[in-house]
Amino acid sequence: MSKRYTITAALPYTNGPIHIGHMAGVYVPADIYARYLRLRGKEVLFICGSDEHGVAISMKAKKEGITPKQVIDKYHNIIHNAFNDFGITFDYYGRTSSEVHHKTAQAFFKTIHEQDGFETQTTEQLYDAKEDQFLADRYVVGTCPKCSHDEAYGDQCEACGSSLNATDLIHPKSALSGETPSLKTTTHWYLPLNRYETFLRSWILEGHQNDWKPNVLGQVKSWLDDGLRPRAVTRDLSWGIPVPVEGGENKVLYVWFDAPIGYISATKEWAAKEGKDWKSFWQDEQTELVHFIGKDNIVFHCIIFPAVLKAMGNYVLPKNVPANEFLNLEGQKLSTSKNWAVWLHEYLDDFPEKQDVLRYVLTANAPETKDNDFTWNDFQHRNNSELVAIFGNFVNRVVVLMRKYYDNVVPQPNALTETDEETLQTLKDAPEKIAALIEQYKFRAASQEMMQLARVGNKYLADEEPWKLNKTNPERVATIMNVATQVVAGLAILSEPFLPNASKKLRNMLLLDTSLGWESVVNEVLVKPAHELGEAQLLFEKIEDEAIAFQQQKLAGTS
Ligand code: MF3
Ligand code: ZN
Repeated sequence: MSKRYTITAALPYTNGPIHIGHMAGVYVPADIYARYLRLRGKEVLFICGSDEHGVAISMKAKKEGITPKQVIDKYHNIIHNAFNDFGITFDYYGRTSSEVHHKTAQAFFKTIHEQDGFETQTTEQLYDAKEDQFLADRYVVGTCPKCSHDEAYGDQCEACGSSLNATDLIHPKSALSGETPSLKTTTHWYLPLNRYETFLRSWILEGHQNDWKPNVLGQVKSWLDDGLRPRAVTRDLSWGIPVPVEGGENKVLYVWFDAPIGYISATKEWAAKEGKDWKSFWQDEQTELVHFIGKDNIVFHCIIFPAVLKAMGNYVLPKNVPANEFLNLEGQKLSTSKNWAVWLHEYLDDFPEKQDVLRYVLTANAPETKDNDFTWNDFQHRNNSELVAIFGNFVNRVVVLMRKYYDNVVPQPNALTETDEETLQTLKDAPEKIAALIEQYKFRAASQEMMQLARVGNKYLADEEPWKLNKTNPERVATIMNVATQVVAGLAILSEPFLPNASKKLRNMLLLDTSLGWESVVNEVLVKPAHELGEAQLLFEKIEDEAIAFQQQKLAGTS
């Protein structure tokens, strides 16, 4: 393991709130990873922020008759607050509208420009004469040349996933005026991705063929096999970062050029605030850079941004880009426009104390290797039959019996049986098993390994039945309760990345020494005889059918 980690989570566009698909794909796994590494004592910088440029934002502003600035302020606050309330532990949450970011992105552009790292091309682009505006990206809709879907955007067809140029569209129409656009010449700067093909091939396809996820390698390979072409990094728009070189008047940087640089700008802002050196997080070989993203961001984080970093010369490249597939909702694709989503801020209004539940469900059912489905019934089931019936039940039985038999003072164990030894061994093996899975970005399996420990504890207690022995064999009961308490303490530590609120409550309930960490589960007796436990607290509660029905009706638009 490295000593320092820079962990990034894709900067959300501030043109709408965050939903559970974003959480499952990006923010929950990234937060599990960051919390885990901190528990292991690593130096971690976990960065995110708002992606505030791009056509989606100016279009939203136009539609609502407000300014782009009003749009980004509104959603920046909604999203940032929801992340906080949910308990995502970003070290810094930036904004690409900040001055530091504008300067940083412009400096990147200038540096690459000065070393002749761009090409310029003058081409004919679609132009809306009525609006007096060039129609890049989402400003133009038309028929996809690849799959004939008739609502493809100028940059991408959402039906077949092809990346497009606006001029590729058949029967293009301006999304602003609805008119058929004309062609007009314009000059832009292009990043010649073709110059990076050899580097990308050997760095990713040879260097990372065993440690990057197959879905990521597959997309990268298909881009490389298709042959990389120069990609425009400027646009004829007014909302964005001004192009800082001669001839750049009335042009802005392409949003996908500036946005990933936002990770670096955010690091600079954080470092200035904390009195740290931002460079050690981006320019030191000892630092592992990991990008958490959704699958629609793969090309930008595995091809375009690395090419930019490579052009700059002195930056580290990502060690891994663990992109996830998509989460569906009740069998259908999540859709902002159709309001088919569970919005994070609304979830938190409806279930203000149940961050851990959603976190657990999204992890246990994460779209890691294929698209997956979230259903409210599964949410209820995972809560009631795993969090409540296994984890919560085990913990609850132990604390109730400890109070009843020992007035909360941990008893001295007597001779261990084979079952006791096995149970303690399972506890000691758990950290390594969970760690190995987390380090391979298999958060789903890691969460199940953690739950397995609770299951083992629960079964141990059910099999040993201390409540039947208390009168006849108090010595045996002392051993059983000591062993069970060790397992609860292990869960308090190992559940932290997955169930941070329950973990915190458990640590308090046990009055666990704060110095106890991941390795302590292997190397130490977590709760010593004579240690006194604290107050019991409720960890999880049953979710009733009515609460689930309410959510289902809300989705169907009937509540
Ligand atoms: N805003 C983009 C999206 O939601 C993600 C940007 S990631 C960054 O798809 F690297 F560009 F910041
Ligand atoms: Zn298509």
